[in-house]
Amino acid sequence: MDPCEHFGLKQMPFTRNIAPGHLYSSGQFTECTARMLFIVQNRVFGVITGEVGAGKSTALRKLRHSLNASDHRFLYLARSSMGPRDLYRELLHQLDVQPPWHKSEAQRLFDEKILELHRQRGITVVVVIDEAHLWDSTMLEEVRFLTNFGLDAASPLALILTGQPELREHLRFQKHTAIRQRAEVWFHLEGMMPEETEQYIHHQMKIVGADPHVFSDAAIDKIHRNTQGIPRRINNRCRAALLDAYMRDRTIVEEKTIDRVINEFANDIDIAN
Ligand SMILES: Nc1ncnc2c1ncn2[C@@H]1O[C@H](COP(=O)(O)OP(=O)(O)OP(=O)(O)O)[C@@H](O)[C@H]1O
Ligand SMILES: [Mg+2]
Repeated sequence: MDPCEHFGLKQMPFTRNIAPGHLYSSGQFTECTARMLFIVQNRVFGVITGEVGAGKSTALRKLRHSLNASDHRFLYLARSSMGPRDLYRELLHQLDVQPPWHKSEAQRLFDEKILELHRQRGITVVVVIDEAHLWDSTMLEEVRFLTNFGLDAASPLALILTGQPELREHLRFQKHTAIRQRAEVWFHLEGMMPEETEQYIHHQMKIVGADPHVFSDAAIDKIHRNTQGIPRRINNRCRAALLDAYMRDRTIVEEKTIDRVINEFANDIDIAN
């Protein structure tokens, strides 16, 4: 017997590799993906922030999945240790172009390539910099050059910066005025509302073929208060709760189970999931 058999689950719920079609659409999550789509369709620059584990990377995954692959090239960067030269090297690499050694040459080649893709093949290049709160000032300034298609009326590029709330703080500095002013979309992804946390938990259980009411109402209420509706925190607690209930041979996750789980997470070490 394992927790899946015990609760009649096809697989363990509340995992990170949930299929894009199975994602839960909270009001905030829907708005976040709609704003991302706006950035892509209008080829503008936008900044998306959100608490740790709120679902920013998941929204990007959904965006990528929803884009027609023949009209878009999705370039995803999430390496904080990158230097200015690596930025263009990596972007060119993802465009299947051999990057030259010099940064200025790489930059010129990148601009040329995206203009060509846009004008000759109608392809929009979408550059995503995830975890941009980890980028230092030099790199953030470098990002500004990506938005510098000023002479051309229509930009060939959509640029999305996502990161934890500190990203907004970084961009507030005087030295980042130029980049800040170029952003047309700003969105902050919040945790879910109490009724959404309930629907989220029911939804996660349903997609693995389980009875959504395994979690009692009081348990869900407690989970919401402890997690502020942040999906990663909910996932971690729900998985731990299913395991705890299984070990004690319970078929319902009660409030008491959640108390024990919350205790385990008292130091709030939320594993990335
Ligand atoms: N709408 C959703 N439906 C289902 N699961 C979700 C949804 N949003 C987030 N999750 C789950 O929550 C977890 C955290 O999401 P994600 O990694 O996207 O957060 P993040 O905001 O990028 O966090 P970080 O700040 O650490 O980068 C993932 O396991 C993801 O599968
Ligand atoms: Mg993320």
